[in-house]
Amino acid sequence: MDRFLIHGPATLRGRVRASGAKNAALPALAACLLAGEPVALTRVPRVRDIGTMRKLLDHLGVASEERGDALVFHPGTPAEENGEAPYELVKTMRASVLSLGPLTARWGRARVSLPGGCAIGVRPIDQHLAGLEALGADIHVAGGYVEARAPRSGSGAGAARRLRGGRFRFAMPTVTGTENLLMAAVLADGTTVLENCAREPEVGDLARLLSAMGARIEGAGTETITVHGVPELGGARHEVIPDRIEGGTYLVGAALTGGDVTLEDAEPADLAPLLEKLAEVGATVEVSGRSIRVAGTGELRSADVATAPHPGFPTDLQAQYLALMTRATGVATVSETVFENRFQHVPELARLGAVIEVAGPVARVHGPTELAGAHVMATDLRASACLVLAGLAAHGETTIHRIYHLDRGYERMEGKLHDLGATVERVRGPMPD
Ligand code: UD1
Repeated sequence: MDRFLIHGPATLRGRVRASGAKNAALPALAACLLAGEPVALTRVPRVRDIGTMRKLLDHLGVASEERGDALVFHPGTPAEENGEAPYELVKTMRASVLSLGPLTARWGRARVSLPGGCAIGVRPIDQHLAGLEALGADIHVAGGYVEARAPRSGSGAGAARRLRGGRFRFAMPTVTGTENLLMAAVLADGTTVLENCAREPEVGDLARLLSAMGARIEGAGTETITVHGVPELGGARHEVIPDRIEGGTYLVGAALTGGDVTLEDAEPADLAPLLEKLAEVGATVEVSGRSIRVAGTGELRSADVATAPHPGFPTDLQAQYLALMTRATGVATVSETVFENRFQHVPELARLGAVIEVAGPVARVHGPTELAGAHVMATDLRASACLVLAGLAAHGETTIHRIYHLDRGYERMEGKLHDLGATVERVRGPMPD
């Protein structure tokens, strides 16, 4: 397994372009299962989760190829024996569950392994399943697989299976749940109303792609989405939105290392909750068009944060913010309200010298502490990013093991950090333990 060697302390300085958003690209790929004609997607980040989703689509009859700066997806019919998302492909990536809605909508049936992915809390998919049932699907969970069948839309054995428009209220705003139901509803018979939807920018991006393919969607980005089903969808060309979490990670890095970083080709509105916090803790924040500059100005002050669904502070930046607070003066209370068990990075940060107490969903960071290099273990995607940031701020050498988590979601991370003046080396091979 690869690891990172970071020689700290580093001061991040320079310009970096945000990659396309992994969490917008994954549903965009899944949406290709609905297309009747080729779909060309640009700004798809070249990260491992995208490779996994491409393999899954290939298995489900949608081949893809690189053409210039685009990934082009060619719809096909899944072979009868291939009409399922198998455990081997799904286990490493929870987002594989995004195939459930489109497969059921397009082919009337789906068999998808229960998802794996980051070990952050229990992460059930009950809302995805209840939503599909509200659209008339018959759902069975057996042997680690979810089987969904749309109702027959006519009489006789040969009648096609098709979802029916319906009304569904999510018990909590779920991002992939909203995306799954949106993709199910676009080909359903009649109108669907989805309530208490996730308002994350990635949901809006999916709705734009589906609309470009011919779907009729109103209200994406708000709590209530109305979808008027259409009989079929065509192809489209679509650029994925910038990755606010990846970009935000580099901006936190600028504040943490007392550096000066300009994030280019970003969407500042999507990063507003982070930018407000960075200004509050004492960093300089300047927005100009699609560029965001963050500079460290000397002393950082502690500020409390509670994660929340968009437009709140994103849970996917909680770990990076925790790393930042280790260098801030005072006590910062960081509350995780979206996921349970999302402080696995705390014991690893402690190995670098951080002083953090965790009680249930709340972490209290006592700062500032001098961080010193050590061996640490990445446990999930965003936790890994927080360890990289802490390693950059630490004196001496930090070794981050199991960076395959980072490779799932950060495009060219060591290259981008190198461009910003840091010394981060990837050491390939098995872990020495
Ligand atoms: C997505 C993101 C992930 C991010 C998260 C929250 C992708 C591929 N991943 O994950 O990076 O951290 O949003 O912003 O986009 N829940 C249920 N039942 C369900 C669905 C969700 O109880 O059926 C709960 C979850 O356990 C969690 C909360 O709802 O506590 C929000 O989770 P959700 O928005 O679904 O996260 P993901 O879509 O998996």
